[in-house]
Amino acid sequence: MQNVKEYIAQHKDRFINELIELLKIPSVSADPAYNQDVLNTADAVKDSLEKAGCDNVEICETPGYPIVYGEKIIDPNLPTVLVYGHYDVQPADPIELWDSPAFEPVIKKTDIHPEGAIFARGACDDKGQMYMHVKALEYMTSTGNLPCNVKFMIEGEEEVGSESLAWFVPRNKEKLANDVILISDTGMIANDIPSITTGLRGLSYVEVEVTGPNRDLHSGLYGGAVANPINILTNMIASLHDENNHITIPGFYDKVEELSREERDEMAKAPFSLQEYKDALDIDDVHGEAGYTTNERNSIRPTLDVNGIWGGYTGEGAKTVIASKAYAKISMRLVPGQDWEEITELFKKHFESIAPKSVKVVVTPHHGGQGYVTPIDNIGYQAASKAYQETFGVTPIPQRSGGSIPIVALFEQELKSKTILMGFGLNSDAIHSPNEHFGVWNYLKGIETIPYFYQYFTELSK
Ligand code: BES
Ligand code: MN
Ligand code: MN
Repeated sequence: MQNVKEYIAQHKDRFINELIELLKIPSVSADPAYNQDVLNTADAVKDSLEKAGCDNVEICETPGYPIVYGEKIIDPNLPTVLVYGHYDVQPADPIELWDSPAFEPVIKKTDIHPEGAIFARGACDDKGQMYMHVKALEYMTSTGNLPCNVKFMIEGEEEVGSESLAWFVPRNKEKLANDVILISDTGMIANDIPSITTGLRGLSYVEVEVTGPNRDLHSGLYGGAVANPINILTNMIASLHDENNHITIPGFYDKVEELSREERDEMAKAPFSLQEYKDALDIDDVHGEAGYTTNERNSIRPTLDVNGIWGGYTGEGAKTVIASKAYAKISMRLVPGQDWEEITELFKKHFESIAPKSVKVVVTPHHGGQGYVTPIDNIGYQAASKAYQETFGVTPIPQRSGGSIPIVALFEQELKSKTILMGFGLNSDAIHSPNEHFGVWNYLKGIETIPYFYQYFTELSK
């Protein structure tokens, strides 16, 4: 049987080229203009699974974008790993800030990736990380190294809330039955400091609309006498945080699971340089909730952020106007204990209650999902930890992430299994930003590490 390192060395150019082809298809799920491209990407993923040795590969139709399913069942008595990933990507905007076109992948060296990184939308989130699993499977099936059963479920709506997957999972529990769920859609601390993600934040995403007068008005004739929806909206938003950067929505923190001093001390042991953090972002200071460190603020604490705000005149030059309407998109990152639908309701009630009588407010919930934490005393985590030790030579650090993959909580609820988050991206890979990239080293290291997870998970299941 061939060793995984040798197999990768022999096939790495093809592995990279195949990923590049996949990255050329602009599978932007948020924008209907890319509808056909998203569907074509599902087909490409299907082909790749077939070529990697999967059986029963199918495009499963849903009310939205399809889910690509495939499996390799070698013995029903052996454990089953369910791999999840997503083939959709975020919009490339603002495109003018990309150094090379988002859907024309190029490999360039960077300080952090001296061996080169693939620059393209989706390179890290999540096509590159998803494809590591396809190539790891190819290695295992073609060299007789697959130690257990495997199922793949790759969706096309993760970046827009996974609505169709939430529809699909409860209807296909039998088909999706598994012993552990394996996902690479997160990151690690650094290439020499691997970490396993043990928590994700939940999310509540809402849009607010503030309406003042029934039409745009001359700001001289009416200014000072009627409510300006933009002034009002920005005041209302400002009032959502107090001077300690606590969120002021009544009841918002009621169910937050606080960590013990010991747990926080344990977290603080993860290597972190505040100076490097600030330098990487070109900021002179950090900002956040009083009483918590930067790493706590972005993982174990809930937050509220305006993601976009608009209204009135934003074109060339000046126009004197009081707009009739102002809008904002607001996200709240939630932590275990907080229920996203309850938080959405609390937000709505509070936001409506603080609006002065001079305006009307409409709060429209978008999507959301629950947070997730996984304990580290299960065989899934242990198998992952041993796999990293094998290929990185060090024990990975458990770390809670600030990002969200809302479907993970639903997997646990519906399929009753734990999810192991083996992410190989770096924070500096610029996911969702211009110039997203994924280190070639990270890509190949992922392919190398994944088969060990299967091996150790199978051994520890005995
Ligand atoms: N892969 C990310 C989530 C992520 C990235 C988690 C890095 C941890 C570390 C995922 O594709 C994503 O972007 N999720 C969205 C939520 C979704 C409902 C749009 C997010 O976190 O904003
Ligand atoms: Mn992702
Ligand atoms: Mn994403």
